[in-house]
Amino acid sequence: IQRNSKFAKLTPDHVKHFQGLLGSESALIDGLSNDAAEDIEPFNSDWMRKYRGHTKLVLKPKSTEEVSEILKYCNNNLLAVVPQGGNTGLVGGSVPVFDEIVINLQKMNNIRSFDEVSGILVADAGVILEVADNFLAEKNHIFPLDLGAKGSCQIGGNVATNAGGLRLLRYGSLHGNVLGIEAVLPDGTIVDDLSKLRKNNTGYDIKQLFIGGEGTIGIITAISILCPQRSRAMNVAYFGLESYEKVQDTFREAKNQLSEILSAFELMDGRSQKLITKATGKKMPLEGEHPFYCLIETSGSNSEHDSEKLETFLEHVMETGIVSDGVLAENETQIRDLWSCREGIPECLGHWGGVYKYDLSLPIEDMYQLVNDTRARIEEAGLIGNDDSHPVLDVVGYGHMGDANLHLNVPVRRYNKEVEKLLEPFVFEWIQKKNGSISAEHGLGIAKKPFIGYSRSDTMIRLMKQIKDLYDPNGIMNPYKYI
Ligand code: FAD
Ligand code: MLT
Ligand code: ZN
Repeated sequence: IQRNSKFAKLTPDHVKHFQGLLGSESALIDGLSNDAAEDIEPFNSDWMRKYRGHTKLVLKPKSTEEVSEILKYCNNNLLAVVPQGGNTGLVGGSVPVFDEIVINLQKMNNIRSFDEVSGILVADAGVILEVADNFLAEKNHIFPLDLGAKGSCQIGGNVATNAGGLRLLRYGSLHGNVLGIEAVLPDGTIVDDLSKLRKNNTGYDIKQLFIGGEGTIGIITAISILCPQRSRAMNVAYFGLESYEKVQDTFREAKNQLSEILSAFELMDGRSQKLITKATGKKMPLEGEHPFYCLIETSGSNSEHDSEKLETFLEHVMETGIVSDGVLAENETQIRDLWSCREGIPECLGHWGGVYKYDLSLPIEDMYQLVNDTRARIEEAGLIGNDDSHPVLDVVGYGHMGDANLHLNVPVRRYNKEVEKLLEPFVFEWIQKKNGSISAEHGLGIAKKPFIGYSRSDTMIRLMKQIKDLYDPNGIMNPYKYI
């Protein structure tokens, strides 16, 4: 792709305008001035170090009004922008492609209100997810989303990507939990829809367009969200299993026997667990090797009741041989240790250089077959191996089994065209044949932009373009990305 010449290039006058508006400490400049107080580089490269932009300006507004002033000026001057939260997105959506101005929300980090009766939290978009959850913990509540990047991602970024995460199985999607949104449109209009109502059938539910909109129609500046009561009792178990069929049996039994206390059911294949040990030296929880592992979390209000249910479940799956081996965490430290076998995977896979990542949704019975077929394809081409002459380390699968959401990952020693050609469009065609989704929870960004047609019809894509044109007629919001 080429830079769109309709967009203006940044000039010292533009910079002066933004410094006047925000103060120089909230307008980081590179190149146009010698006194860059903070390194601009981290705002230009993504978490995977796969995408790199060339912005010379990062703006950090402190209020919704400042966001509005920034966007109005950019729209009038045809300056393209990229909204940015914690920059942990996995599809290259949060960094510029060329010289788009980065608008980072990190300085908008106030919790505005929390109602202990209704459980409704209202907070600025730039609040870090873990900070929001820690705040809620003190009030015996929990943020209805949890994911491995919680220490750096922002709740506005979570909503903009419609992140799914580790507890969607229990608490549902952000499309249901987010009750209201405050956002700014490219022309500076402040959309004040920060509703705190659970029910509100008064016309189109426009906030839904911002949830998963990936910063293409406006900037989310605050959200209101329904937060459940925090469970008093929590248990985590980790199992080794001999086949994918047995993983499915375990899932069925878990739903059957643990029902309302089940709060996560995660899948990790043996290869993903081996790579954790290889990358970190971590000792895994079970002796011996198994082709599959799963992690089950329960949470409820009565620990005796939960323990009783869990023990009956454990006895059943062990005695019937559905699971081969298992361990139950006995305290907070062990709970964290078991979770790290799942949450630690993304970071470890990047250890050797890079990762090709596919985030898909498929009928649950077919899900793991894609990993096997992909591995066979790369093996046949002789590209997998233990030494440096092979670009690929392995082909692994893990993910949110409870949501039929698999992460197919191909860790590599270096990004390689030959590998890429074997993977794409093969993986997308495979998914299309099963009527699956090529992006279950990470979004499209720039990485999946060419492939949207594998999951969406021409009519749906046309409707999306119409919405984009209506909200952002000059196309300044996150250009070159999926729409
Ligand atoms: P960014 O990466 O900064 O931005 C993501 C997108 O949203 C970009 O397109 C950006 O332009 C836009 N955006 C950001 N803020 C705003 C805003 N205020 N208004 C409008 N647009 C905005 N995702 C899952 O769904 N489930 C997981 O389990 C999960 N686990 C992860 C684990 C790790 C270790 C990592 C690195 C990522 C993981 N992710 C997961 C990816 C996930 O999308 C992000 O972690 C998170 O939701 C993005 O938040 P962020 O603040 O970092 O957004
Ligand atoms: C996860 O579930 O760990 C995340 O979505 C990140 C990833 O896919 O690697
Ligand atoms: Zn995930």
